Amino acid sequence: PSLQSHHTFSLQANCLSIVEFNSADAFISAYNQADHAYILGEGSNTLFLEDYQGTVLVNRIAGINHFDTESHHHISVGAGESWHGFVSLCMQNGWYGLENLALIPGSVGACPIQNIGAYGVEVGKFISSVEAVLLTSGEKIIIKSADCNFAYRDSIFKNELANKVLITQVNFVLPKMYSLETSYGELSKLTAPTAQQIFDAVIAIRKSKLPDPAQFGNAGSFFKNPVVTTSQFETLKSTYADIPGFGVSHDETKIPAAWLIDQAGFKGKVFNQVRCHPTQPLVLTNLGNAQGEDVVTFAKEIICEISRKFNIKLEPEVRLVGAKGVIDLV
Ligand code: FAD
Ligand code: EPU
Repeated sequence: PSLQSHHTFSLQANCLSIVEFNSADAFISAYNQADHAYILGEGSNTLFLEDYQGTVLVNRIAGINHFDTESHHHISVGAGESWHGFVSLCMQNGWYGLENLALIPGSVGACPIQNIGAYGVEVGKFISSVEAVLLTSGEKIIIKSADCNFAYRDSIFKNELANKVLITQVNFVLPKMYSLETSYGELSKLTAPTAQQIFDAVIAIRKSKLPDPAQFGNAGSFFKNPVVTTSQFETLKSTYADIPGFGVSHDETKIPAAWLIDQAGFKGKVFNQVRCHPTQPLVLTNLGNAQGEDVVTFAKEIICEISRKFNIKLEPEVRLVGAKGVIDLV
């Protein structure tokens, strides 16, 4: 079967079989029958570069349950639910906090993995715990938020628990006394916005900058924003006076990879059927008939040039899947 409609970059690739599951038990049984398996949500952070020699297991675990206390909303969400659908439901019910994370594609189960973030908010802040099953034994485990090691585009699920669990449910806690996050870029121009207005503004900003995967296949930011030492940042600033940077700790600065890629002249450039997006150069897009090897060649060229010009090593944010499983670009 074809994986093209199962990942938002829409490369032409097949696999041995695709199995959709709607419970942990159904997953374990399918997982045990497969020689090689890849867990997929909505495929918005995954590129299938070539035919995958295994089974793709697509998460459809559903269900949303809510209860509240005097101070908080508690919402348990099945990992196969749509992220944006869940955020929209929160807005309709007046459960605020997640509005800055509107319109991020993908499943709820994937949100803790890279601790999805946008417009000044990271999801980890609102997660109380993550429920999962161990792939080897099927044992159910609960990981408390404090143990998830949430960081910028990072968590325990990309490290100690990488390829070891299926996330089945994510539990959120939203305080009723909420404060809105409006510090990021365009949002700071809003005067006394409501949560609904932030939700609407985030959607409008995203639609104006990011390519719609239905039009041009893509997986959002292809690379992570690099974090460098503040002294390296100062050195760069002496050569590139207008280089943007955001302090993330007293000795670390995050640089927008979009700026680096833009400065290196890649913005709008096309390599075969892969384009560096003209309004957001951190995004690579599929112009229609891109091949996995073209994406790899172009991404490597960008990495090499940023390293040569700025002495910064860009790391992919996306998962690249080859014939035998996830591959490392660098
Ligand atoms: P998939 O691509 O299906 O899976 C991602 C990884 O998680 C894979 O390794 C997969 O094996 C694993 N996985 C998935 N589900 C499970 C599970 N239940 N249990 C265990 N492992 C699992 N991200 C941001 O953080 N901020 C943004 O602003 C943002 N904007 C984007 C805009 C666009 C247009 C696109 C296409 C993507 C964007 N992304 C953004 C990236 C993407 O939306 C997130 O990474 C999202 O969480 C991926 O969800 P998914 O279900 O599609 O994951
Ligand atoms: N920039 C340029 N040229 C451009 C565009 C941007 O130089 O053509 C520079 C500007 O300095 C701009 C900066 O890049 O201020 C940042 O751009 P933007 O606000 O679009 O955000 P980003 O850092 O490129 C990150 C996330 C996005 C998230 C946005 C909004 C990463 C890797 N990406 O992008 O997440 O939506 O912030 O918060 O952290 C994703 O992860 O897939 C994703 C889309």
